[in-house]
Amino acid sequence: MSMPSFGVLGSGKGSNFRALAESFKNGTLGCEPAVVISDVEDAGMLTLASEFGIPGRFVCPGPFRTKMSPEAEAEIVLLLREAGVDFVVLAGFMRVIKEPLLQAFPGRILNIHPSLLPLFRGLESWRQALEAGVSETGCTVHLVDAGVDTGEILGQSRVPVLPNDTAHSLHARIQAAEHELYPRMVRVFAERLRKTKLPNH
Ligand code: GAR
Repeated sequence: MSMPSFGVLGSGKGSNFRALAESFKNGTLGCEPAVVISDVEDAGMLTLASEFGIPGRFVCPGPFRTKMSPEAEAEIVLLLREAGVDFVVLAGFMRVIKEPLLQAFPGRILNIHPSLLPLFRGLESWRQALEAGVSETGCTVHLVDAGVDTGEILGQSRVPVLPNDTAHSLHARIQAAEHELYPRMVRVFAERLRKTKLPNH
Protein backbone atom coordinates (compact mmCIF):
# COMPACT_ATOMS: atom_id res chain seq x y z
CA MET A 1 0.00 0.00 0.00
CA SER A 2 1.33 3.47 -0.82
CA MET A 3 0.49 6.25 1.63
CA PRO A 4 -2.92 5.36 3.14
CA SER A 5 -5.66 7.94 2.86
CA PHE A 6 -8.61 8.69 5.08
CA GLY A 7 -11.95 10.49 5.12
CA VAL A 8 -12.83 12.87 7.96
CA LEU A 9 -16.35 13.14 9.39
CA GLY A 10 -17.22 16.03 11.68
CA SER A 11 -20.03 18.30 12.80
CA GLY A 12 -18.25 21.29 14.30
CA LYS A 13 -15.51 23.84 14.10
CA GLY A 14 -12.92 21.27 13.07
CA SER A 15 -9.98 22.05 15.34
CA ASN A 16 -9.03 18.36 15.39
CA PHE A 17 -9.27 18.22 11.62
CA ARG A 18 -7.00 21.28 11.49
CA ALA A 19 -4.42 19.51 13.67
CA LEU A 20 -4.52 16.49 11.31
CA ALA A 21 -4.32 18.62 8.16
CA GLU A 22 -1.38 20.60 9.57
CA SER A 23 0.43 17.41 10.51
CA PHE A 24 -0.13 16.16 6.94
CA LYS A 25 1.19 19.43 5.53
CA ASN A 26 4.29 19.15 7.73
CA GLY A 27 4.90 15.64 6.41
CA THR A 28 4.50 13.99 9.82
CA LEU A 29 1.12 12.22 9.50
CA GLY A 30 2.12 9.25 7.33
CA CYS A 31 -1.29 9.28 5.63
CA GLU A 32 -3.41 11.71 3.70
CA PRO A 33 -6.81 13.33 4.32
CA ALA A 34 -8.70 12.81 1.04
CA VAL A 35 -12.21 14.08 1.79
CA VAL A 36 -14.08 15.90 4.57
CA ILE A 37 -17.76 15.17 5.15
CA SER A 38 -20.13 16.97 7.50
CA ASP A 39 -23.74 16.53 8.58
CA VAL A 40 -23.86 20.29 9.29
CA GLU A 41 -24.08 22.50 6.22
CA ASP A 42 -22.27 25.52 7.70
CA ALA A 43 -19.76 23.55 9.80
CA GLY A 44 -16.46 25.42 10.26
CA MET A 45 -14.77 22.19 9.28
CA LEU A 46 -16.01 22.48 5.67
CA THR A 47 -14.57 26.01 5.39
CA LEU A 48 -11.30 24.72 6.81
CA ALA A 49 -11.30 21.86 4.29
CA SER A 50 -11.42 24.31 1.41
CA GLU A 51 -8.63 26.36 3.01
CA PHE A 52 -6.49 23.21 3.02
CA GLY A 53 -7.54 22.34 -0.54
CA ILE A 54 -9.30 19.14 0.52
CA PRO A 55 -12.73 18.34 -1.00
CA GLY A 56 -15.53 19.01 1.50
CA ARG A 57 -19.06 17.66 1.24
CA PHE A 58 -22.26 18.25 3.22
CA VAL A 59 -24.55 15.25 3.58
CA CYS A 60 -28.08 15.97 4.80
CA PRO A 61 -28.44 13.70 7.85
CA GLY A 62 -32.21 13.13 7.62
CA PRO A 63 -34.89 13.39 10.29
CA PHE A 64 -33.16 11.90 13.37
CA ARG A 65 -31.18 13.90 15.92
CA THR A 66 -28.67 11.33 17.15
CA LYS A 67 -28.06 9.22 14.05
CA MET A 68 -28.14 9.55 10.28
CA SER A 69 -30.87 8.16 8.07
CA PRO A 70 -29.83 4.92 6.32
CA GLU A 71 -29.85 6.89 3.04
CA ALA A 72 -27.49 9.51 4.45
CA GLU A 73 -25.13 6.84 5.72
CA ALA A 74 -25.19 5.09 2.35
CA GLU A 75 -24.33 8.40 0.67
CA ILE A 76 -21.40 8.89 3.04
CA VAL A 77 -20.10 5.39 2.23
CA LEU A 78 -20.37 6.21 -1.47
CA LEU A 79 -18.42 9.47 -1.05
CA LEU A 80 -15.72 7.69 0.98
CA ARG A 81 -15.44 4.95 -1.64
CA GLU A 82 -15.31 7.48 -4.48
CA ALA A 83 -12.46 9.21 -2.65
CA GLY A 84 -10.74 5.80 -2.35
CA VAL A 85 -10.02 6.13 1.38
CA ASP A 86 -8.52 3.31 3.45
CA PHE A 87 -9.97 4.40 6.77
CA VAL A 88 -12.22 6.96 8.44
CA VAL A 89 -11.47 9.52 11.15
CA LEU A 90 -14.28 10.97 13.24
CA ALA A 91 -13.39 14.46 14.47
CA GLY A 92 -16.26 15.86 16.50
CA PHE A 93 -18.90 13.91 14.57
CA MET A 94 -21.94 14.11 16.83
CA ARG A 95 -24.05 11.22 15.52
CA VAL A 96 -23.88 7.52 16.30
CA ILE A 97 -22.38 5.43 13.49
CA LYS A 98 -24.58 2.56 12.27
CA GLU A 99 -24.58 0.14 9.41
CA PRO A 100 -23.66 0.48 6.57
CA LEU A 101 -20.67 2.62 7.56
CA LEU A 102 -19.46 0.14 10.20
CA GLN A 103 -19.69 -2.69 7.70
CA ALA A 104 -17.96 -0.74 4.94
CA PHE A 105 -14.93 0.06 7.15
CA PRO A 106 -14.77 -2.67 9.81
CA GLY A 107 -12.08 -1.90 12.37
CA ARG A 108 -11.12 1.12 10.30
CA ILE A 109 -13.05 3.96 11.93
CA LEU A 110 -11.26 6.05 14.58
CA ASN A 111 -12.82 8.49 17.01
CA ILE A 112 -11.54 11.01 19.54
CA HIS A 113 -13.51 11.37 22.75
CA PRO A 114 -12.96 14.09 25.38
CA SER A 115 -12.56 11.87 28.46
CA LEU A 116 -10.51 8.97 29.76
CA LEU A 117 -12.80 6.21 28.50
CA PRO A 118 -14.49 4.15 29.82
CA LEU A 119 -15.34 7.11 32.06
CA PHE A 120 -17.83 9.75 30.89
CA ARG A 121 -19.20 8.36 27.65
CA GLY A 122 -21.68 10.40 25.61
CA LEU A 123 -22.11 14.15 25.41
CA GLU A 124 -20.13 17.00 27.03
CA SER A 125 -17.77 14.64 28.82
CA TRP A 126 -15.70 17.54 30.20
CA ARG A 127 -18.83 18.80 32.00
CA GLN A 128 -19.51 15.29 33.31
CA ALA A 129 -15.94 15.15 34.65
CA LEU A 130 -16.29 18.56 36.33
CA GLU A 131 -19.59 17.60 37.93
CA ALA A 132 -18.15 14.27 39.15
CA GLY A 133 -15.38 16.19 40.94
CA VAL A 134 -12.49 14.13 39.52
CA SER A 135 -8.99 15.60 39.73
CA GLU A 136 -7.96 14.30 36.32
CA THR A 137 -9.63 13.67 32.99
CA GLY A 138 -8.32 13.63 29.42
CA CYS A 139 -9.01 12.35 25.94
CA THR A 140 -9.11 8.97 24.21
CA VAL A 141 -8.60 7.79 20.65
CA HIS A 142 -10.46 4.54 20.01
CA LEU A 143 -11.80 2.34 17.25
CA VAL A 144 -15.53 2.71 16.63
CA ASP A 145 -17.83 -0.26 17.11
CA ALA A 146 -21.62 -0.55 17.35
CA GLY A 147 -21.69 0.84 20.92
CA VAL A 148 -21.39 4.45 22.03
CA ASP A 149 -17.72 5.24 22.84
CA THR A 150 -16.96 1.56 23.52
CA GLY A 151 -14.43 0.37 20.89
CA GLU A 152 -10.81 -0.70 21.39
CA ILE A 153 -8.73 2.06 22.97
CA LEU A 154 -5.68 3.06 20.91
CA GLY A 155 -4.30 5.82 23.14
CA GLN A 156 -5.09 8.36 25.85
CA SER A 157 -3.74 11.66 27.20
CA ARG A 158 -4.26 12.80 30.76
CA VAL A 159 -5.36 16.35 31.63
CA PRO A 160 -5.59 17.77 35.17
CA VAL A 161 -8.80 19.35 36.42
CA LEU A 162 -7.79 22.61 38.13
CA PRO A 163 -9.57 24.14 41.16
CA ASN A 164 -11.06 27.11 39.28
CA ASP A 165 -11.92 25.26 36.09
CA THR A 166 -15.13 26.03 34.26
CA ALA A 167 -16.59 23.71 31.63
CA HIS A 168 -15.08 26.06 29.05
CA SER A 169 -11.54 26.17 30.46
CA LEU A 170 -11.46 22.41 31.02
CA HIS A 171 -12.69 21.66 27.51
CA ALA A 172 -10.05 24.01 26.08
CA ARG A 173 -7.30 22.18 27.98
CA ILE A 174 -8.64 18.79 26.81
CA GLN A 175 -8.75 20.05 23.22
CA ALA A 176 -5.12 21.12 23.35
CA ALA A 177 -4.30 17.53 24.40
CA GLU A 178 -6.52 16.18 21.59
CA HIS A 179 -4.61 18.16 18.98
CA GLU A 180 -1.38 16.43 20.02
CA LEU A 181 -2.86 12.94 20.57
CA TYR A 182 -4.99 12.54 17.45
CA PRO A 183 -2.30 13.10 14.77
CA ARG A 184 0.03 10.82 16.76
CA MET A 185 -2.57 8.01 16.93
CA VAL A 186 -3.63 8.43 13.28
CA ARG A 187 0.01 8.06 12.27
CA VAL A 188 0.33 4.86 14.36
CA PHE A 189 -2.90 3.47 12.88
CA ALA A 190 -1.80 4.22 9.30
CA GLU A 191 1.50 2.49 10.02
CA ARG A 192 -0.40 -0.53 11.36
CA LEU A 193 -2.50 -0.63 8.16
CA ARG A 194 0.60 -0.49 5.98
CA LYS A 195 2.28 -3.30 7.93
CA THR A 196 -0.69 -5.69 8.05
CA LYS A 197 -1.32 -5.03 4.37
CA LEU A 198 -5.03 -5.67 4.90
CA PRO A 199 -6.80 -5.95 1.58
CA ASN A 200 -8.51 -2.76 0.54
CA HIS A 201 -12.27 -2.67 1.04
C1 GAR B 1 -13.77 17.46 20.42
O1 GAR B 1 -13.48 17.95 21.70
C2 GAR B 1 -14.12 16.00 20.46
O2 GAR B 1 -13.43 15.31 21.46
C3 GAR B 1 -15.59 16.03 20.74
O3 GAR B 1 -16.07 17.11 19.97
C4 GAR B 1 -15.07 18.11 19.87
C5 GAR B 1 -14.94 18.55 18.43
O4 GAR B 1 -14.14 19.68 18.31
N1 GAR B 1 -16.20 14.80 20.36
C6 GAR B 1 -17.16 14.19 21.05
O5 GAR B 1 -17.63 14.65 22.07
C7 GAR B 1 -17.63 12.89 20.44
N2 GAR B 1 -18.48 12.19 21.34
P1 GAR B 1 -13.51 20.12 16.92
O6 GAR B 1 -14.66 20.24 15.91
O7 GAR B 1 -12.90 21.44 17.21
O8 GAR B 1 -12.50 19.09 16.50
